[in-house]
Amino acid sequence: MAFCKLFTVLVLIHNGGGLLGAEVRSSIIGGEDALQGVWPWMVHLNISADGIKKYRCGGTILNSQLVLTSASCWDRHPKPNPSRSMAWVGSQDLAKGATRYMGLAFHMSHPNYKAYDGGSVNDLGLVKLKKKLVFSESKLVAPVKLPSPNDIFDETSECWITGWGAVGNGVPLPAPETLQQLRIPILPQSVCKAKYPHLTSDQLCAGDLAGGKDACKGDYGGPLVCRTARGFVQVGIMSYGSPDGCGLPDRPGVYTRVSSYMDYINSYINLTEEASAEV
Ligand SMILES: *[C@@H]1O[C@H](CO)[C@@H](O)[C@H](O)[C@H]1NC(C)=O
Ligand SMILES: *[C@@H]1O[C@H](CO)[C@@H](O)[C@H](O)[C@H]1NC(C)=O
Repeated sequence: MAFCKLFTVLVLIHNGGGLLGAEVRSSIIGGEDALQGVWPWMVHLNISADGIKKYRCGGTILNSQLVLTSASCWDRHPKPNPSRSMAWVGSQDLAKGATRYMGLAFHMSHPNYKAYDGGSVNDLGLVKLKKKLVFSESKLVAPVKLPSPNDIFDETSECWITGWGAVGNGVPLPAPETLQQLRIPILPQSVCKAKYPHLTSDQLCAGDLAGGKDACKGDYGGPLVCRTARGFVQVGIMSYGSPDGCGLPDRPGVYTRVSSYMDYINSYINLTEEASAEV
């Protein structure tokens, strides 16, 4: 999650100055270190082409075998190799590892995914795990809820992003790499479209036009979730932001709108569940 110095200053003024140490850490990012188990669907994707050079993305657990993520995370040169990449589930501090390390069977991108200079469309994809996850009583690992046709999400919704991405432009998340959470609002579609003219109705913006609250490198593929009566629901997938950097004023983050892709997502959920039933 990126931040900017201006935002830091505003937070300090707001907090009245005193007790700097503790408050700076919990305030700069806009949210704070997440507590264990609050976001049990979070997946850390450790992606590699050759098994040596690795980079990270986020993802969310859909069921015992499927992870929802972006397509752009896998659209790199050299081409990422799922068999040399890993999904960490039930992680909190990456330094402490994961509840389980899952091998990947494959990644598939949405058939209409396209990248262009400075952005992309239909930026979502699925990862299939080699083995099945077991969802235990401890609830440290659990599937995310998906939007239903009756859900309405707008500027008034309580929405959060989570990730292990950079905390500033060129500033990786410091050790012990605790999962970060940040509350940000969805922006009106007209405002978003004015900032990103190529925006489609299958995308949305979230963030703060003042800057300082954003997803950043390493967060992409991860979720934007919003609160409903039935709990948090995944509304977006972090897709891209300004090519000039994260957390800039007037450059909110762009998210793939999950509700636009429910047939695609459900058809693969159904496939894996039928496959399970046959075993
Ligand atoms: C990927 O996992 C390895 C351990 O298997 C770790 O050393 C490395 O830091 C991770 N890389 C990223 C980018 O998360
Ligand atoms: C998936 O399965 C559910 C329940 O069997 C069914 O209602 C739904 O139409 C299916 N969706 C797709 C996209 O195949």
